[in-house]
Amino acid sequence: MYLFNRIRIVPWKGGRYFLLSILILSLAGPVLLGCSEASRQDSADSAQWIIGMSQCNLGEPWRVQMNNDIRRAAEAHPELRVIFKDAQNDSLVQRSHIEEFIGQGVDCLIVSPKEAQPLTPPIAAAYRAGIPVIVLDRAVMGDEYTVFIGADNFAIGEMAGEWIAETLGGEGRIVELKGLMTSIPGHDRSNGFRQGIEDTNIEIIFEADMQWLEPNARREMESALARFDDIDLVYAHNDPGAHGAYLAARAVGRDDEIQFVGVDGLPHEGMQYVREGKLGATFIYPTGGAEAIDTALKLLRGESVPKEIELPTQAITRENVMDFLDLDIEE
Ligand code: FRU
Repeated sequence: MYLFNRIRIVPWKGGRYFLLSILILSLAGPVLLGCSEASRQDSADSAQWIIGMSQCNLGEPWRVQMNNDIRRAAEAHPELRVIFKDAQNDSLVQRSHIEEFIGQGVDCLIVSPKEAQPLTPPIAAAYRAGIPVIVLDRAVMGDEYTVFIGADNFAIGEMAGEWIAETLGGEGRIVELKGLMTSIPGHDRSNGFRQGIEDTNIEIIFEADMQWLEPNARREMESALARFDDIDLVYAHNDPGAHGAYLAARAVGRDDEIQFVGVDGLPHEGMQYVREGKLGATFIYPTGGAEAIDTALKLLRGESVPKEIELPTQAITRENVMDFLDLDIEE
């Protein structure tokens, strides 16, 4: 309304139509181009292949990093154009994004799915339609996709369990804050952890699904703190979860008596927390963004790739964190 009022006061009549057309074009342009929810990577028109990237959400720093890694890797290849879609943590929205990409006939699809069950069918549909599909980070069911790229979440959980068992001298009371249990990494990080603490006197006194989200972790930790006077350590399936738990403990003055362990190890997130002494350890979970572009290029060029590409992990503790961080960062 406001814009139309402004158009009405333009004195030159032809100018009115000119401005109106600009307005209509600027509003309708993105819709006509079919990318209202998509942000297109700037690239020359020389792009030979279009890659659709379906991201489950951009609420956590780790996922923003994944998209940045993809963007940066693709920028080195003018023959690629990446269209990003963000499902805002909604599996149904992500499903429709994948269907849109199939309809657009993208040359390759990268999907980092929110949940395994609801996203298996649309991923399989893309695969059956002949689109090479790269599943990134969170796995799906079955094998109807071209490549899976990700770290071994069971191994990460097990490493975390072994580190915790050693740090606590084989006994202690633990809170486990789980990632979304309808996603495979949540399951694997939990099962691996239980394997890692097997045959110790470590007891899980409280467990909850915080769905990978820091505010949920903080809330769950408030309940744990209210119920238990004696907590030795919190194992959270990601760094936002560990940080949420730390904040809850700090708010009631109990952060000094509890250790916090997370997963992800981003330099500007988990590694910083370790450096600041908020977390005792985190385990690197690479985004796989660069590897996804590498793999997409191979597939588009008709080269063969393995069905599964496993990314490495690494424990980050107070002992080695400075080897990973820039020593010049100010205190
Ligand atoms: C981000 C995230 C990461 C975690 C990964 C698991 O959405 O929760 O923190 O490591 O997803 O898929």
